Amino acid sequence: MYRTHNCGELRMQHVGQEITLSGWVQNTNDLGYMMFLNLRDRYGITQLAFNEENTSKELFEKARTLGREFVIRIKGEVIERASKNDKIPTGSIEILVKGLDILNASRVPPFTIEDETDGGEDLRMKYRYLDIRRSPVQQSLIFRSHVAIESRKYLAGEGFIEVETPNLIKSTPEGARDFVVPSRMNPGQFYALPQSPQTFKQLLMVAGMDKYFQIVKCFRDEDLRADRQPEFTQIDCEMAFVTRDEVLRNFEGLTKYLFKTVCNIELADFPLMQYDDAMRRYGSDKPDTRFGMEFCELNDLAKNKGFVVFDNAELVVGICAEGQANGYSNKDLKNLTEWMQRPQIGAKGLVWVKVNADGTFKSTVGKFFSDEDIKEWAEKMNAKPGDLLLILSGEAEKTRKQLNELRLEMGRRMGLMKPGDFKPLWVVEFPLLEWDEEAGRFHAMHHPFTSPLPEDEEKMLGGDHETMKNLKANAYDLVINGVEIGGGSIRIHDRALQEKNFKLLGFTPEEAEAQFGFLLGAFEYGAPPHGGIAFGFDRICAVMRGQTSIRDFIAFPKNNMGRDVMIDAPSVIDEGQYEELYLRSTAEDEV
Ligand code: AMO
Repeated sequence: MYRTHNCGELRMQHVGQEITLSGWVQNTNDLGYMMFLNLRDRYGITQLAFNEENTSKELFEKARTLGREFVIRIKGEVIERASKNDKIPTGSIEILVKGLDILNASRVPPFTIEDETDGGEDLRMKYRYLDIRRSPVQQSLIFRSHVAIESRKYLAGEGFIEVETPNLIKSTPEGARDFVVPSRMNPGQFYALPQSPQTFKQLLMVAGMDKYFQIVKCFRDEDLRADRQPEFTQIDCEMAFVTRDEVLRNFEGLTKYLFKTVCNIELADFPLMQYDDAMRRYGSDKPDTRFGMEFCELNDLAKNKGFVVFDNAELVVGICAEGQANGYSNKDLKNLTEWMQRPQIGAKGLVWVKVNADGTFKSTVGKFFSDEDIKEWAEKMNAKPGDLLLILSGEAEKTRKQLNELRLEMGRRMGLMKPGDFKPLWVVEFPLLEWDEEAGRFHAMHHPFTSPLPEDEEKMLGGDHETMKNLKANAYDLVINGVEIGGGSIRIHDRALQEKNFKLLGFTPEEAEAQFGFLLGAFEYGAPPHGGIAFGFDRICAVMRGQTSIRDFIAFPKNNMGRDVMIDAPSVIDEGQYEELYLRSTAEDEV
């Protein structure tokens, strides 16, 4: 037998028992006449003791050969510790070792297997199996498993059926590029890996499954960030005969249930925010509402006073950073301005105003505006003495995006993004279509299967170009603390409306038929009204644990170049495979 107990289990009540433990050597401390060793497994750490009095010379010598990460089995007696460690649950006891088997030796690991490791990201990824031995990563994966199991419980309880959909499919456009897989049996033809199971879940509604869910891998060839991976997981759902509000209620229910059961956190009801309001108040369709610092538009007060920069701007808009006037020297403000001018943000400049205690102002634009003028801004922005006003101007959409970055940065600096504080909201009524001037066609803001609001359906079938720009989608996103957790919509279930949408998106009728004929056809056989949503599963796990990166919630993630550095993928395939798959190798190109 390898073990009678695990390494996190033994307590005072076990004192006097003979036990067997197996695990990894975390570290050893050899004091000459005695030696301590921390033995680790998934459940915890138990201290082992060897001493001259009670341990045979042979056993002592064997223990001295152990290195970090050796795998051992020991037999021994549970005894009370002389000096207790209240930082670990097993800290009151230790094991007086009477027998030791070395089950496997280990090379010296390339980084320390501790909570705070000295290993850089690349090294940790190359030896991910060692990285996962570290408690924080292990805990993240255990947490993920817990969230998955509870999601299944909740959805099953609500009558959802888990159905698996295929991975070798035809392209489903979700706005990214497809990963493709050549078909050996169909020379020159390719499958695409699903960017989501979107069309399949809609077909399951046509098929009468009524409520579907799946915890499912999706594949998107897009640029990677901390919250994006080329293969990631969704909690994907679809429901027939539903309105938007019923979908929202169900998935607000799921979110609250997960926070309650997994984190013991009660979430208040989620407010609804219109997309247009989110953009106007926060410059973002995923606002972090843990803090205020909302945008204040100053066009009426700041334009036409002779300051050309503002006069030429479509929008003058600012935020009020409470109590920050004293904290920012001229040099700090210069640095902040330069931070805003970096290409990633691209602001032309930054206007600041300090509200002094005596009611006067210090500002970059003091030359152009009187104290009276600035007082009006301060009043509109609800500024108090000691506050710092930060103002941007320019083309409206761009300026809002830039101010969003500044608001988030100030929120971070001012400690307003409090860990443990969760502020979910639904963002609703997105635009249906975005006009792409260069391509001369529309793009779907969500995806091509999203329906317009019911009142916009007629307009969509018969309206002119301008009307199309203003159509609102019956779509919704769940946002928590500035992260888009999930998105969904009520779908088009009518062939004519779907065909019209494809046309607006630049498909010829032949192209639409070739790519989506199966769906258009299905709509002719009694497709029920339906809608759904998908949560980013990796993302909700990370957000629930207060983390920004989803990587540690994925056992074997890819790096920023989309590489798995442990198995070294992607990699070249051998010449024979090229032939078998009817592909041209790059070697042929070189010839
Ligand atoms: P959407 O494209 O909004 O909708 O995706 C749903 C959610 O999936 C997560 N997500 C990602 N997570 C990690 N890495 C990525 N590369 C990545 N891309 C997306 C986000 C996002 O909110 N079929 C529709 C859903 C529907 O309409 O029902 C869809 O996939 O959290």
